[in-house]
Amino acid sequence: MNETGHVILVADDDAAIRTVLTQALSREGHTVRATGNAATLARWVAAGDGDMVITDVMMPDDNAFNILPRMKKARPDLPVLVMSAQNTFMTAIRASEAGAYDYMPKPFDLTELISVVSRALAEPKAKPAADTPDAAEAMPLIGRSPAMQDIYRMLARMMQTDLTVMINGESGTGKELVARALHDYGRRRKGPFVAINMAAIPRDLIEAELFGYEKGAFTGAVQRKAGQFELADGGTLFLDEIGDMPMEAQTRLLRVLQQGEYMSVGGRTPIKTDVRIIAATHKDLRGAIAAGSFREDLFYRLNVVPVRLPPLRERLEDVPDLVRHFMMKGSREGLPEKRISADALELMRRYRWPGNVRELENLVRRLAALYPQDEISAAIVQSELYGATEAATHDTSDGVAAESEVTSLENAVERYLARYFAGFNGSLPPVGLHQRIMDEVERPLLLAVLAATNGNQIKAADLLGLNRNTVRKKVRELGVSVYRMPRS
Ligand SMILES: Nc1ncnc2c1ncn2[C@@H]1O[C@H](COP(=O)(O)OP(=O)(O)OP(=O)(O)O)[C@@H](O)[C@H]1O
Ligand SMILES: [Mg+2]
Repeated sequence: MNETGHVILVADDDAAIRTVLTQALSREGHTVRATGNAATLARWVAAGDGDMVITDVMMPDDNAFNILPRMKKARPDLPVLVMSAQNTFMTAIRASEAGAYDYMPKPFDLTELISVVSRALAEPKAKPAADTPDAAEAMPLIGRSPAMQDIYRMLARMMQTDLTVMINGESGTGKELVARALHDYGRRRKGPFVAINMAAIPRDLIEAELFGYEKGAFTGAVQRKAGQFELADGGTLFLDEIGDMPMEAQTRLLRVLQQGEYMSVGGRTPIKTDVRIIAATHKDLRGAIAAGSFREDLFYRLNVVPVRLPPLRERLEDVPDLVRHFMMKGSREGLPEKRISADALELMRRYRWPGNVRELENLVRRLAALYPQDEISAAIVQSELYGATEAATHDTSDGVAAESEVTSLENAVERYLARYFAGFNGSLPPVGLHQRIMDEVERPLLLAVLAATNGNQIKAADLLGLNRNTVRKKVRELGVSVYRMPRS
């Protein structure tokens, strides 16, 4: 139950947000004092008012991150909830580093906000303030989709802890990048970051690799060698592809995690460990447990904080930001910087990205390196994504390459339908099939034709052999976005 009578200070230059928060928090039994500027908030806090602060970042007179350190210094126990419409990784991290209790991207869910407030008021313990690293640092993680914001919030909360994190996600979703960000912005950032990939080491060498070995421990062990646990001491050990770890090594790892110490191969004295563990896998470990290839007890040891990285196709709104990011990254490395036409970008936003961010990064590099044009057209992207050279361009083993075997449209439709019907396991699909299939064919057709004619609907109608009004109607009905390219 709520303890009533808390005083909550709200700062936001948006009057509507002040009203919403005042009403909702009053209903919870709290007293609210609201202001539209940072200076007033700072004054209230300095005067010792309020039991909690909810603040926006950008206010007309100042940025909340400028006043937050002073506030936290004067009143370390005061929980501060930061809200921001600038939903980037850095906002979440800076909020966490400035000592904020939590961070909420805008627009926020009111129910969630209320529950964060009651949680903060129930446990008003101060967090040790971290020393702030270089604020001008480049952003390690790109994307502002709701899915990525969830990830940022989770990471921000993990930064000040040593909790074991388990990152799950398809190949190329950024698992290693997230592990590095956790280290680089966490409290062990001054220590080493050591990554070891279970899938890349011969099975019988994994234990020696992890724990090191003594001279003479086995044939070929001519001198003592430190293991990754030792090299990562005081820092972070990233156990990549943990799903590929052999059973015996799993058993040893579990024991190390339980006891906080280990012995090298051939060693006699236990060595204490001081590492933060981050594990990652693209595999379904619960499935592996059921199949008997992964230890359930180890799983629970590692899965303290699970982080699921969404595949790119679940956050296609991040594609433009990522394209820009990789284009700039390429140009810093000496690749020419290209513009991507709006319809080319649209094509990328419709692609399914089986290789996720890595596939997108590779595509952008190819576009920058291989094409002389200043502006990349939709036709180029179309041929890069769906063209005949496809099999060679995918570095993942997903079933995409096989699709390039398609010889004719008829053939493709036949195969598609066979699979489609099979998907209903003997029962029939929902009615209206003809229209659905026609739409599926018509959309890519329209897109391709519009791309080829630079979005010129008159030319597109000509090419299709259709009436102009029909084309316009279809464009509208199928929701095909038409962009006109600027004349160059
Ligand atoms: N959100 C992101 N912002 C910027 N770059 C990203 C992002 N996600 C991934 N990348 C980039 O995409 C590439 C692949 O990422 P990473 O190696 O971390 O993926 P992974 O999940 O570990 O893949 P795999 O399972 O194949 O090992 C890297 O070059 C990484 O820098
Ligand atoms: Mg990886």
